[in-house]
Amino acid sequence: MTKKPEDRSPNEKASKEDAATGYHLGSVDTLISVEDVVREVEKMSSDVSKDDVAALAHNDPFLRIDNLKAGYGKMEILHDFNLQVGRGQSLCLIGPNGAGKSTILHSIYGFTNIFSGDITIDNEGNKQNITSLSPNEKLKKAGIAYILQDKSVFPGMTVEENLWMGGFLMDKPDDAKEAAEKVLAKYNRLAARRNNPAGILSGGERRLLEISRALIMEPDILLVDEPSIGLEPRFIDMVFEILDDLQNAEGKTIIMVEQNAKKGLEFADVGYVLVSGELAMVGSGEELLQDPEVGRLFLGG
Ligand SMILES: Nc1ncnc2c1ncn2[C@@H]1O[C@H](COP(=O)(O)OP(=O)(O)O)[C@@H](O)[C@H]1O
Ligand SMILES: [Mg+2]
Repeated sequence: MTKKPEDRSPNEKASKEDAATGYHLGSVDTLISVEDVVREVEKMSSDVSKDDVAALAHNDPFLRIDNLKAGYGKMEILHDFNLQVGRGQSLCLIGPNGAGKSTILHSIYGFTNIFSGDITIDNEGNKQNITSLSPNEKLKKAGIAYILQDKSVFPGMTVEENLWMGGFLMDKPDDAKEAAEKVLAKYNRLAARRNNPAGILSGGERRLLEISRALIMEPDILLVDEPSIGLEPRFIDMVFEILDDLQNAEGKTIIMVEQNAKKGLEFADVGYVLVSGELAMVGSGEELLQDPEVGRLFLGG
C-alpha cells in the first residue's frame, strides 16, 4: 500500500543552518523551522471551502464540525474550523507544531472551551448535536473514543485488568469483562500477556493495549493523536496495520493526527493541512502525498 510521491522538486531554500525545530523524518537532511513552514503554507492558496470539505466525505458526513471556534481558557486556537468525515473513512490532520491539531481532537472529545460552532453526528439521518456533551457522554452516548497514550496504561495492573478499565462507564462489570474477552480473542499478542503486569510490555504492545482499551466500549469513531510517536519503526507499521484493520474490517471511522505526515497520508483516505488554527489545504491522502508543496514542507523532500 505504499504510494511514493514522485518527482518532488528538491528543496532549495531550507538547509541545515535553519532552526532545528521543524520536520526531520530521518530520510533526508532537510530541516525547516516551524516558523518557515507557517510562513510558506500561508503563502499557498488557502481557499478551502466547505464544499471541498464536504466532497471529500462524499457529501455524506458521519461526523461534522461546522464553524468551530475553540481553545483553552479565553484563548481561541481554532478559528472557524470545518471538518467532515464519512462513516468508515479515515482522516489525517497534519501541520506544524502548535497548529492546533490536537486541539481539534480535544474539541471533538470535549476537552476544550467551545466559543461557537457545532459538532454533529449524523447516524443515517438521525442527527445528534454533540457539541457540549462531556467526554464520558461522548464515549457512552455518541460512540466516540479518544485513545490515550504515553503513560496511560497502569503498569502494576495486568493487561486484562487494564482492558477492564476501558469499561469503567459500563453498567455492569461483567459487560467490561465480556468485551475484554472479545478484544483478547482478536489480539493474540495481548492474550499471551493477559496475566502479566502491563509494565513489562514492549512499546508496541503498550500502544496496542491503549488502542484495545478504547475498543471496550465498542466506539464507532476513534480519535488517535500521533499513534507512531515514540515507537520503533517495526512497531509503527504494526500500529498502522491495526488501525487499517479497525477501519477496513470493523468499519470504524478514524480521525488521526500524525507528525509522521508520510505514514499518516499513506494511511488516510482524507488529509487536512492545518496551519495556525485554520485549514490550509485538503485533499485525498494520495493527492496531498503527491503535492509538491506538501512534499517540500511536510514530507522532508
Ligand atoms: N491545555 C492547554 N492550555 C493552554 N494552551 C494550550 C493547551 N494545549 C495546547 N495549547 C496551545 O494551543 C495551541 C495549539 O496546540 P496543539 O493543538 O497541541 O497543537 P498541535 O497538536 O498542532 O501541535 C498551541 O499554541 C498550544 O500552546
Ligand atoms: Mg499535538
